[in-house]
Amino acid sequence: MSADINIPVQKVDHREKVTGEAAYVADIKLPGMLYAKTLRSEKARAWIKAIHRPELPEGYFIVDHSDIPGQNRVKIVINDQPFFAEDRVNYIGEPILLVVGPEKQILLEIMAQIRVDYQDIPPILTMEDAETPDFQPIFEDKKYFADYQITKGNQEAGFAQGKFIFEEEFTTGYQEQLYLEPQGVIGVYENNQITVYGSIQCPYYVRDALMQAFGWGSERVKVVQTTLGGAFGGKEDYPSLIGGQVAVAAYKTGKPVQLIFDRSEDLEVTTKRHPAVIRLRSAVDENFKITALQADIRYNAGAYCGLSNVVLQRGMFNIAGVYQIPNIEVRGRTVATNTVPNGAFRGFGAPQAIFAIEMLMQIMAQKLDLDPLEFKMKHLVQKGELTITSGTFRQEVKLPELIAAVDQISDYRRKTNEFRSSKEKALKGIGMSLFLHGCGFTGSGERDFIKSQVKLRKLPDGKVEILAANTDMGQGLKTTLRKIVANSLDLPIESIIYQNPDTTLVPNSGPTVASRTVMIVGKLLEEAALKLKPRLNEPGEVEVVENYRHPLDMQWDDATFRGDAYPAFSWGVNAVEVEVDPRTYEVQIKGIWSAFDVGKAIDDRIMRGQIEGGILQGLGFGCLEKMECRQGKIQQRSVTDYIIPTAMDSVKMEHRLIDNLYADGPFGAKGAGELTLIGGAPALAAAVSNALGVPIHRLPITPEYLMEVVKNGKAD
Ligand code: MOS
Repeated sequence: MSADINIPVQKVDHREKVTGEAAYVADIKLPGMLYAKTLRSEKARAWIKAIHRPELPEGYFIVDHSDIPGQNRVKIVINDQPFFAEDRVNYIGEPILLVVGPEKQILLEIMAQIRVDYQDIPPILTMEDAETPDFQPIFEDKKYFADYQITKGNQEAGFAQGKFIFEEEFTTGYQEQLYLEPQGVIGVYENNQITVYGSIQCPYYVRDALMQAFGWGSERVKVVQTTLGGAFGGKEDYPSLIGGQVAVAAYKTGKPVQLIFDRSEDLEVTTKRHPAVIRLRSAVDENFKITALQADIRYNAGAYCGLSNVVLQRGMFNIAGVYQIPNIEVRGRTVATNTVPNGAFRGFGAPQAIFAIEMLMQIMAQKLDLDPLEFKMKHLVQKGELTITSGTFRQEVKLPELIAAVDQISDYRRKTNEFRSSKEKALKGIGMSLFLHGCGFTGSGERDFIKSQVKLRKLPDGKVEILAANTDMGQGLKTTLRKIVANSLDLPIESIIYQNPDTTLVPNSGPTVASRTVMIVGKLLEEAALKLKPRLNEPGEVEVVENYRHPLDMQWDDATFRGDAYPAFSWGVNAVEVEVDPRTYEVQIKGIWSAFDVGKAIDDRIMRGQIEGGILQGLGFGCLEKMECRQGKIQQRSVTDYIIPTAMDSVKMEHRLIDNLYADGPFGAKGAGELTLIGGAPALAAAVSNALGVPIHRLPITPEYLMEVVKNGKAD
């Protein structure tokens, strides 16, 4: 089958059009454009009793909730978050109003003169606070935005079969996306229509938010993506908030209004990866088979729900990792706290869960005196078996091949034995992580919620334009999708056009999230191209439309979370070698090896970019990126304080791709973008654990944490 498909039919020159011409939102200057600055809450939780405003100079405006023509709620999943605070604030940094005008310096002077009178309400600062009865819940009467349960098999029976019982708690910290280009948007009101331009991952999400904010139909709302300098999920929901704000400001002032965050503002108030506390209990029988797993997962959602409940679902669905465990019970909660709302970040709830299960597997193996990899391999899921949600793994699971490939390039088994047996090498370690990622939206999301549509338009000059709403954030999407269409049409890639999406010109092919775009949208484009191909020689314009069709054999029940959570899974194996400094407990990475099954890589070089960037971002999550929220305030507000990996922290990486063609993906491709981040931290943690002979329960693995674990056996 594989031999029929020859993806690199065309060499893509990846240097094409590197001209520096691409306009980021901060590069755009429109005639008469005003600037905006956000006045933010200084309180984690308070009533706003009064706002004292200075006399405004001519041409300056204050924009707040009273200027919103429609509903003062950002449309995401549940309607809880206001564009501008009304009578109360729920986190430090929550937007209260915009000051708008032509001179940035004067905006700051006006801001300094505004005084807000607050009446404090005791804030819920941590997930522990939320559990005490001393506080009023934040949202309606709820402590949790969601409290979900999934069950597979029979928990009691599973634990009854167990001879060894394990109980461990894992915690992970914040992770900030730290896209190079901070958040930014421009609002324009003209001819009875609102337009928002911006650094936007999901233009149609922003369109829907604007329609609700104004109470207008889609014909009066337009959203255009400007060149994106990275997003990683951080521009999935957040632009709906600030897009609504600048749109209202433009509507009020009659002028274009630009809002660009500086780095410290972006670090302090935008969504991040959810800090997590995961408690796992497991049972292993006398044959060293795991008979039961019980999980209690809490993600700190922050003050508003945003995407947190969906993030939590992905965390829950990943809690058994790549392992076949017959009896599972999972409780998952998103805890409401008076802290900055958390949201989407590459991996979307999975990295926390995979870290927890991978570490549990490691700890169980060590306590049972088994080799961690052999213990894991005894439990690998296989084709035809049930998933955690009692769906089916429908395609072949090539984990044994991936493990063999990584073992071969990293020398994992030999090094494991060598490091174990040699006293001298005691501070060297190698660790391996095994993981998966469900491709696309969960459950019936694609069928009921997104209903993607794409179009292809042959232009009179013979070129073909892709009409889709998906965004290139630097991940190379335009190249990948153009390559799929070019190959399907037997045209050179230069003949295929893909402009930044404008919601008035392109159909809604869904958001660029959830590792769905190549698999779902790419497949629709491949099918559209096959329809267009026989008509390429017709004169003038020819347009073809393709609509999403849900795989008929996929079943999903949203009430019980039972069925096929994902149509397909991508798989990965990472190995990381480390050396730990015996005095400072600093971890030095000595080697990074990986293998992935993404179905089929459409472009090897883009795939390599995803692999190297994803693993490094995962390793940052694992050992470098520390962000703390103290008394409701994010402490790391610069790239000096918040350290991400750079080329200096990296070493040469080697990877292998194992093809495993997926019939419902273009040329056999599945998802790849998020998968590559997930295995870095658990492989690193396993390596550190092996090097020092201690269990790891926490991310990031800082020197301070390691020192405590080594000295006390456990950190508090
Ligand atoms: Mo993504 S983290 O699904 O934008």
